[in-house]
Amino acid sequence: MEGSEILSLEVIEASLSTKIIGRGQRLDNLASENGDSSDLSKNELWDEIDSTNTRAAALAAQGCPEGVMVIARQQTAGRGRLGRAWISPPDAGISFSVVLRPKIELSRLPLITLATGVAVAQAIEASIGVRPGLKWVNDLTLSGRKLGGILAEMPGHALIIGIGINVRLKADELPDELKDKVEWLERAVGGPVDPNLVVMELAHKLEAQYELLKAGKTEEILALWRAYSVTLGQMIEARSANQVITGKAIDIADSGALIVEAEDGTRTELVAGEISLRLQDGSYC
Ligand code: BTN
Repeated sequence: MEGSEILSLEVIEASLSTKIIGRGQRLDNLASENGDSSDLSKNELWDEIDSTNTRAAALAAQGCPEGVMVIARQQTAGRGRLGRAWISPPDAGISFSVVLRPKIELSRLPLITLATGVAVAQAIEASIGVRPGLKWVNDLTLSGRKLGGILAEMPGHALIIGIGINVRLKADELPDELKDKVEWLERAVGGPVDPNLVVMELAHKLEAQYELLKAGKTEEILALWRAYSVTLGQMIEARSANQVITGKAIDIADSGALIVEAEDGTRTELVAGEISLRLQDGSYC
C-alpha cells in the first residue's frame, strides 16, 4: 500500500470532460454522518459503505439526476450477480456505481451490461495498458481469471450500473476458493496502479457507450464486445435451475443473448444466467 494512490474525488472530477457521467459536484463532507446529502447532484466518495449500488439506488429514489457517481474505497456488503457477495477490502479495488435514466425500450436494457463491459475493458486498456477479456455476460477477465464484474440493477425507475475492479488484492487474505480464480491490476502490470486514472477513463468510455445505446447503435456496441470477447468460439456450459446446455458460443444476438450451438447443430439463445468456459483438460471454469 505504501506509495500507492488511493481514490480521490477531487482528482477524478478535475479531469472529467463528460456531459452526463459524474457531472455532479464534489461532496465536501465525505461519508457524512447520516449518509444523506441534501444536494442530490453531487458525486460521492465513501471511505466505507455497505454497497455503492445500494447507495446509488437510494439517491435515485430521492430523485437525483442521472450521471451521479458513487465510489467507495471499501464495501462491507458489496453485491455480485446471482446473490453472491463481492469482496471489497480497503483500497483493494474500485467500487463504482452510477445512476442512469435511459429512455429506451425495456427489451434493449440487457445490452447495457455488454456496453458497460466494453467501457470497462477500454478504460483499463487506455489507462494502464493491459487488455482485459469479456466473458458473457458480466465478467472481466485477465489471464483466465476474474478481474472485475458488472451488476446492473433496476430498483424502481432508474438503472444502477455497478462496477467492481480488482486493483491490489492480497493473495494470502483471499478465501481459498478464490485464490486461483481472481486477478488484479497491480499483479498484471507488476507495479503500482492509480485507480483514479482508471475511474477517469471509465467515466468517459461509459458515457460513449451510453450514447451509442441511446442512439440505437447496437451493432457498434456488439462489434466492440466481440473484439474483447473471451467467450465466442469457446465450448461453454450454461447451468440454470432446470437444465444444462453445452455447446460452442458462436455469437451475440442483437438482444445481447449468447447464441450457443450444440453438437447436433441446434442453437439456443441464452438470455440470462452464467456460463463456464471449457478448459483444455475438458473441465469447465
Ligand atoms: C459480479 O461479478 O457478479 C458483479 C460484481 C459487481 C460488484 C460491484 S462493486 C460496485 C457495485 N456495488 C455493489 O455492491 N456491487 C457492484
